[in-house]
Formats: sequence, structure tokens, C-alpha cells
Amino acid sequence: MTWVYIEDIGKHEDEDVEIRGWVYNKRSGGKIRFILVRDGTGILQATVFSADDQNPLFLKFDELTQESSLIVRGRVREDKRAPGGYELSLQDIEIIQVAKDYPIALKEHTTPFLMEHRHLWLRSRKQHAVLQVRTEVIRAIRNFFDDRGFRLMDTPILTPSACEGTTTLFETKYFDQMAYLSQSGQLYNEATAAAFGKVYCFGPAFRAEKSKTRRHLIEFWMVEPEVAFATLEDTIELGQDLILFIIERVLKNRRADLEELERDPKPLEAVSRPFPRITYDEIVPRLQAKGSPIQYGDDFGAPEEGLISEMSSSPVCITHFPAAIKAFYMQPDKDRPDLALGVDFMAPESYGEIIGGGQRIHDLELLERRIREHNLPREAYAWYIDLRKYGTFPHSGFGLGVERTVSWMCGIKHIRETIPFPRLLYRIYP
Ligand code: 4AD
Ligand code: MG
Repeated sequence: MTWVYIEDIGKHEDEDVEIRGWVYNKRSGGKIRFILVRDGTGILQATVFSADDQNPLFLKFDELTQESSLIVRGRVREDKRAPGGYELSLQDIEIIQVAKDYPIALKEHTTPFLMEHRHLWLRSRKQHAVLQVRTEVIRAIRNFFDDRGFRLMDTPILTPSACEGTTTLFETKYFDQMAYLSQSGQLYNEATAAAFGKVYCFGPAFRAEKSKTRRHLIEFWMVEPEVAFATLEDTIELGQDLILFIIERVLKNRRADLEELERDPKPLEAVSRPFPRITYDEIVPRLQAKGSPIQYGDDFGAPEEGLISEMSSSPVCITHFPAAIKAFYMQPDKDRPDLALGVDFMAPESYGEIIGGGQRIHDLELLERRIREHNLPREAYAWYIDLRKYGTFPHSGFGLGVERTVSWMCGIKHIRETIPFPRLLYRIYP
């Protein structure tokens, strides 16, 4: 008998097939027994009907518990009433293991309990749906850049220098030297952009964020395009196109998962170009008028992100931040050198900042000055400074956070559910 996956079951109507998986749930009533079998790609109802209550399949059915592993064989039948539209008419049940006392029974559990059992929690329907959306988002991102001729460049994870400020660095020993886990691949990408024109890196980023929020992970995934000769304007266009492409893919391919998550797709369908644009100078008084205590020069916190997201059904692009609150590498505005040519994309519905980026300093002297002002060790950045010596070029790029994007797509308030094994403040198990 052919082993098939539940997601392909529709191609096997009226055939005898084998499904290998686990018991999600079971039910019995009179002469009928139902097993909900999951195989990672879906859940299928397998049924036995018999007038004989000593039917061997009934006896095997009685042994089964939640998450027991098994192989079931039978005939695929269309059944409009069955979840998914098909069911398996059982001919054989081969039990691999009867699972005893599975900790996550099909009822409500507390979040700390579920987090402690994350390795098992992944099997539940909602978590499954979220991570299906995640793989879709990642595939969309890669397709988007690959189809536009971007070269994928893997940047190092062990690095000798900081990219996004020294307060969130993870230190580790590198033989007899100190090293840091990468906060961003950007600096290396600026080098690969000079070699390949348009590039992206896609990898994990590490930040020792001491604040416990719904939006911060210690380890998260980020895609970072970098384009030689692109301006701030070009990078905003690119970020906008990317977000629209991700939404289109999720709506097209993961409708059923959004339904499972009770995610209303309308706010996603409402996102349209052009995304509204506003400068930092303009937005601060608007936030104050809405009751925010923000002062000029402050960064946005969760309350401000919420207020900003009320301004539009599309992400809001905020530009021209005070250079003092942004990273050392940001290009200043030519008329207002106190402002940085950076951009943050704030997601609608209070999902926070999903993109951060902008134009980079390409002037040698200015970059050297900034490195001094930020008290960064010049030796560690010597190679980065070289990029401004040998054919310097204006360039721009951004980073999009995968988990924030997934939480927005799924309508999930806490980022911890958007990655298989979240690293959170003081939690590294499992
Ligand atoms: O704004 P950030 O810090 O920008 C950079 O790292 C730039 N070097 C990127 C670049 O220009 N190439 O981070 C970019 C995005 C944020 O907008 C957010 O979506 C996500 O990365 N992010 C986090 N996601 C989860 N947990 C955290 N602790 C995050 N920090 C940033
Ligand atoms: Mg940022």
C-alpha cells in the first residue's frame, strides 16, 4: 500500500493508502469508531464500522491514547461531513507505541506549562498553523529576493564587532579572543553589496534585550537586503513591495491556517500601496496630541507603536530620526545633519516595528568620526572603513524581522509562538 501524506489525500480518492502518524483524538459511538490521525501535514478522520464489538480493529482502537504513534491503512473516501472532505475507511491499524499520560491533554493549559512543554506543544493545531504561516513567510521572502536578482550572502554569526549598539551584545570566547553573536548581518552585507550589487542575508540575530516585552526575542530571524547605489527612497519602495508580496502569499496559500487561528484576513487584505510616510519631527507632536508622554528625542515604546498603528490600515513609514537615537552608520540628511536617513515600518493593528533600515554613511571622514563618537574600537571596523576608501558608494538596506511579521500575519499578540523554540529573557529550555 502506498504511504501518502494527508495534505495529498484528495489525489487518492477510492485508493487504498497508508498513513503514518499519531492519534490526535478519538471518539466512539455505537457501531462506529473514529480516530483523528495527524501526520504533520494535516488531520484525517479514520473510521471503522462494525456490528461486532469484538472486531479486532475495535480492540486496537480501545488501546489507543492521545499521541500514540501508528500506521493506519484503508480506503480513501470522499465525505463532505468529514473535516477536510475525506475520510479513511479503516482496514488495518498498526500500533507503533501507545503513548502514556501525554501531558498536553486537549484542554486549556497555562502559558508557563505550555512553554515548558514547547517540544510537545508544537503538535497542537494552533501552533501548527502559526508555524505553517512562518514557513510560508520565509519562502515568500526568499522567492521575492531571488526573483529580483538579489544574491543570497550568508554573513557570519561569530563576529568581532557590534552592529546595533553595544548594550545588547552576547559575548562569547573565540579561542583567546572575545567574540560576539551577530546582532545583524548588515555591515558584512555592505561589503558583499560592493561585490555583487544587490544582496540579502537571512539568518538568526542575537540581542541580549533585558526588557521583557511581547515583541522581543533574544534570538530572532531577520532578512536583510542591501543595495549598492540605492537611496532611502529606494529602500522604502523595496520594503513596501516585500511586505505586500508576503501578505499576498499568505492570503493565497495559508487561508486554512488563518481560519484555524481565527485571524480575520480583512486587515491584511486592506494593506495597500503607497504606505503612508511621516517624519519623526511630524509624528512626535501628533503622538503627544493623542496623549503620549513622548518627548522629542525619545524612541517609540509599545504605547506609541499602538497609537501610530491607528493612523493607517497599512504600515506607517517613519523617517528622519534624530541621529542621536540611531545607529552609528546612518547617513545624515544633507540639509539637516542632525537627522538620520533611517526608516522604521510600523505594522498596523499594534504589531510594532517590522522593518528598520535606511541609507548608510558612505563618506570616509564622517564614518571615522562616528566610530570615534560611539567609542567603537577602530581596529575591529578597519575592514568596514575600507569600503569607504576603495570606490565608496551610496547604499541602503533594511532588516525585516520574521517573527514580528508572522505574529502580525497570524494575529498573535505574543511573539513567543512564532518560532519553534523561542529564546526569551531567562528562558532557554527546551
Ligand atoms: O531595527 P533593527 O535593529 O535594524 C537592524 O538590525 C539593521 N542593521 C537592519 C538593516 O538595516 N540591515 O532590526 C530590524 C528588525 C526590526 O524592525 C524588527 O522587526 C526585528 O528586526 N527585531 C526583532 N525581532 C524580534 N526580537 C527582537 N529582539 C528584535 N529586534 C529587532
Ligand atoms: Mg529598529
